[in-house]
Amino acid sequence: KSLKEYNTFGINAIASEFVAITSESELKYILSEHSKKNLFILSGGSNMLLTKNLDALVLHIAIKGIEVVEESETAVLISACAGENWHDFVQYCIQNNYGGLENLSLIPGYVGSAPIQNIGAYGVELKDTMVSCEAINIITQEKQIFQKKDCKFEYRNSIFKNEVKGEYIITKVTFKLTKKDHNLNTDYGAIESALKEQHIKTPTIKNISEAVIQIRQSKLPDPSEIGNSGSFFKNPVISKGLFTKLQKAHPNIPSYIIDENNIKIPAGWLIEQSGFKGKRWGDAGVHEKQALVLVNHGNASGKEILDIATRIQQEVKQKFDITLETEVNII
Ligand code: EPU
Repeated sequence: KSLKEYNTFGINAIASEFVAITSESELKYILSEHSKKNLFILSGGSNMLLTKNLDALVLHIAIKGIEVVEESETAVLISACAGENWHDFVQYCIQNNYGGLENLSLIPGYVGSAPIQNIGAYGVELKDTMVSCEAINIITQEKQIFQKKDCKFEYRNSIFKNEVKGEYIITKVTFKLTKKDHNLNTDYGAIESALKEQHIKTPTIKNISEAVIQIRQSKLPDPSEIGNSGSFFKNPVISKGLFTKLQKAHPNIPSYIIDENNIKIPAGWLIEQSGFKGKRWGDAGVHEKQALVLVNHGNASGKEILDIATRIQQEVKQKFDITLETEVNII
């Protein structure tokens, strides 16, 4: 089966076997029959680059359902199953005036993969509102609950990318959201200016969601039009020593202070300065409005995209002595 429709990069990789899973019992059954087989777990396919065909049984986790588990006057505990579309879930919360996820509007992908890399945007991360998640152990088929502290969340990182990598399939994620006195996060410059432009002084969660959607649409390509996986690399953290050196040569280098010794640099700037922004080789290229996003204009192969990524890494290393790590999983 072609996976072109199942990965946001739109790469035409072929899976030797494919099953869409729509319930937890179905998942357990398939795992009990096939747990020793070569398995490949496919969620929304929004954070992967397929560079080859898959000689594997691909399990597409499409379990649906949203449920309010507990409610008080001020807060709500709400769970969403792994196969819910992330943005649709965020919109459901906004329509019901449940606050906390509005800054994460329009992130492609499914709920089930959100904890794996602790998705984040515009000053908010998944870990700020996630309470726990449920996962099925691939070998034993037992269900395990991971509380937030068990997940070891960091910037674009969690236990699911490290200690227990490949051992679990996340089936459900639970969040604690606010019903009033929402804890709004409008610090990100572009959100502030969008609200100001519309003369909104006391924004609602809906106003913030709309501002985020507008900002994302203005610089990030829509995967249904141009294949992509959002930021291809992580923003690197460098030492103060290197930063001081770079600042002499590049007085305008943008930066965010992490602590007294560490500084984060936007990878998009490094890539743009290296001359890659908007470049295209065949159908593979670098987005014209956001250099951190690699794009498939139609029929690029995963290998062609990966070649560009490697050239970017080499060039940035040579020019700035900074190693860019991929954010996207290379398969
Ligand atoms: N910049 C450039 N040229 C570019 C792109 C960016 O110079 O082509 C510089 C500018 O100085 C700009 C700065 O980079 O001010 C930051 O750019 P932006 O606000 O677009 O954010 P980012 O650091 O590139 C990160 C996340 C995004 C998230 C935004 C907003 C990572 C790897 N990426 O991007 O997440 O939406 O912040 O919070 O942390 C994703 O993970 O897929 C993703 C899109």
